[in-house]
Amino acid sequence: MRHIEFGPGIVGTPGGFPAVDIPLSPPAPQWNGGERILRSDLQRGCGATRSSTSGKYREQVLDFPLRGSSGGYPPPPPGSYPRNREKNRLNTPLRLSFFLAGLLASVIAASTASAQTGATDAQRFFPKADLMIIGVYYYPEQWPAGDWERDLGKIAELGFEFTHFGEFAWGFLEPSDGKFDFAWLDRAVDLAAKNGLKVILCTPTPCPPAWMGEKYPEIYLVGGDGRRREHGTRANASLANDVFLKYTRRIVTELARRYGQDPRVWGWQLDNEPSAPADYSPSARQKFQAWLERKYGTVEKMNAAWGGNFWSTNYDSFAQVLIPNEGLFGEDALSPHALLDFRRFTADTQADYLHLQRDILREHIRSEQWVTTNYINVTDTADPRRTDRLDFVSFTMYPVRGEKNLGELGFRLGSPYRLAFAVDYYRSFKGVTGVMELQPGQVNWARINPQPEPGAVRMWLWHAFGGGLSFACTYRYRQPLYGSELYHAGIVGPDGVTPSRGGLEFARVIAEMKELRKLYDPAAKMPERVAVRRTAFLWSHDVMWDLDIHRQTALWDTWDHRFKMMAAVKAAGAPLDYIGEGDDFAAYPFLVAPAYQLVDEALVQKWTRYVEGGGHLVLTCRTGQKTKSGQLPETPWAGPVAPLIGAEVELFDNLLDDGRGLVRMKGKGYAWNRWADVLKPHSGTETLAVYADQFYAGKPAVVTRKLGRGTVTYIGVDTIEGGLERDVLREVYARAGAEAEDYPPGVYIEWRDGFFVGVNYSSRPFAVPVAPGSKIILGSNPLRPADVLIWRER
Ligand code: GAL
Repeated sequence: MRHIEFGPGIVGTPGGFPAVDIPLSPPAPQWNGGERILRSDLQRGCGATRSSTSGKYREQVLDFPLRGSSGGYPPPPPGSYPRNREKNRLNTPLRLSFFLAGLLASVIAASTASAQTGATDAQRFFPKADLMIIGVYYYPEQWPAGDWERDLGKIAELGFEFTHFGEFAWGFLEPSDGKFDFAWLDRAVDLAAKNGLKVILCTPTPCPPAWMGEKYPEIYLVGGDGRRREHGTRANASLANDVFLKYTRRIVTELARRYGQDPRVWGWQLDNEPSAPADYSPSARQKFQAWLERKYGTVEKMNAAWGGNFWSTNYDSFAQVLIPNEGLFGEDALSPHALLDFRRFTADTQADYLHLQRDILREHIRSEQWVTTNYINVTDTADPRRTDRLDFVSFTMYPVRGEKNLGELGFRLGSPYRLAFAVDYYRSFKGVTGVMELQPGQVNWARINPQPEPGAVRMWLWHAFGGGLSFACTYRYRQPLYGSELYHAGIVGPDGVTPSRGGLEFARVIAEMKELRKLYDPAAKMPERVAVRRTAFLWSHDVMWDLDIHRQTALWDTWDHRFKMMAAVKAAGAPLDYIGEGDDFAAYPFLVAPAYQLVDEALVQKWTRYVEGGGHLVLTCRTGQKTKSGQLPETPWAGPVAPLIGAEVELFDNLLDDGRGLVRMKGKGYAWNRWADVLKPHSGTETLAVYADQFYAGKPAVVTRKLGRGTVTYIGVDTIEGGLERDVLREVYARAGAEAEDYPPGVYIEWRDGFFVGVNYSSRPFAVPVAPGSKIILGSNPLRPADVLIWRER
């Protein structure tokens, strides 16, 4: 057996870790009357030992909408971001007001969770009167120490209010095993504070130093290709490996003890863009087996859940279980149930890793410091809902990434969906969020990297504000001179002093924000006509994984489907929160659950009670077709939801890539080719739209029914442009007496703290319907593309 040394007196075996703890350094300096007693006056000359941060490998499939988030699982097929979306050709809404507005009001009164309006515990970190505070990343270890004073001074001069240090600096914080060096970071924090900048400190765990990998190669994760990752990039460690976990504990403890009581440190970011990478290492396999044993108790139960009788794929013991690796199989696929469990395990492992760090920090840090992490805006693999012990979750956002998007300017304006989705999604967890990285200009990692449209960076910032964010931060202050991201724009260019175009837009928004703060009115209340439209979106990663593992048609695109439904809600001007199955549905007059495939009796009952109590539920195709383990229930197709939706799903259909099926509603036609549930309504159920061709022409595609005091609507088809989904939702709002707006694709109008904020990702100006007597505070109407309009109603 090979023995390995961990440091003085500590011996271990590969793959395991000795019971003895890694020694911590002497106690951290104490705070004394607000003055730091420095452990050492030695400053690190970082310029001499520059290291390059290497760029994260990103799966860049042509037009594939998700970046860097496939987590090592096989990427989904090329998704289609809706392009050239249909023009704003919506029907005049039917204003059927047979549903009493009073009923809505009573549902709203029962509201307990209002992310946009209600104060939350996490709010204590962010005084409301600051509105949104704006900062920038700085990497002291990447620049000569002599530059820091000038750089941090200039950051403050541009108006930034905070900075962000340390996320990749493990090699500088622990240059050799157990030897720590905080002097350089102490100095950087000092300089930031002298310039009035708050500091976000990061745990450096994406970047295990070379010495660690050299001593313990088992710390690296193993990819689906069976190859062990190695030193030279980041996010390469196995979060299931006990050696890596021990080292993580130690560096996080050291940082917590040193800076946890430091009033200059505002909060903590854990790791970077945690993405729950699929890990096929021996450590991961062992932990997966233990996870399964905890979940199922007996191997027989696991075999039953995985369908082990199919192709004799069953196991005799948990110790036999292999990680299902899609990379190793072709047409004869693995058990989708095993794959679903592996995704759940991987997301749990990521969440455990973040919670481990959070718990260490919380033990040492003052209660005024917050702890978050910066998820990628659309997390395919990591599940933010699983990290509920963080004070709040934040996200990163790069809207321009070489995609066509909406209209001819779309490739420069950015995705019209990502930021709109992320602000609501991340805010919904704790009522508070921020964007930790917001693109400052051209990036380096997309397939093609265009310049953002002049004004776009400013528009994104104001969009973030409108979405209720408490802070916005940008990656990064200086454009790097070396490393894989040297083409990446910063707030200043390669000379280190000249602001970039995006840098000037940031500075402009900071100045505008400071003016807007003067108008902040703590008593402002969301106007009633907006509040009555409040909508919740039921979203579960488990459902998404199951849809993605077993698509049935390569054209199926879960994100695209959900973005279309989101866009339909936002086009109606409805405030949107994302909730989970455990949340209170009744807090929202409207609830949308798109393609909610995995259900159990409890969920169907909860939906039913919600509707009976007066809620308006919208379900879309594929809902209720499987159990929670991804198996079919022994019922007619979609049997579990048939009584609720008042219809059977007779069959479902998928067309070919260039196939176009037609659906009709009120004389308008809508094309589809991905998914169609063909419905057979029960008596009392109303048909809203029918299929106009194929062998099932004339059969319903969309149905609705009243149930108790509410309604349930089932949209059985995913249309190419999402126009049917928009029109059906408008109908649902109108019938419920909640007058819907009619914003064109790419235009978002948000209400926040008394301000209406309009942004325009379309390539056409839009005349915003501003209530008479309103006061325009910023911008002009019509709202031009890449521009912002802010107003207040009297
Ligand atoms: C982010 C990442 C940053 C930086 C940036 C470049 O995804 O969190 O560290 O690499 O991309 O755009």
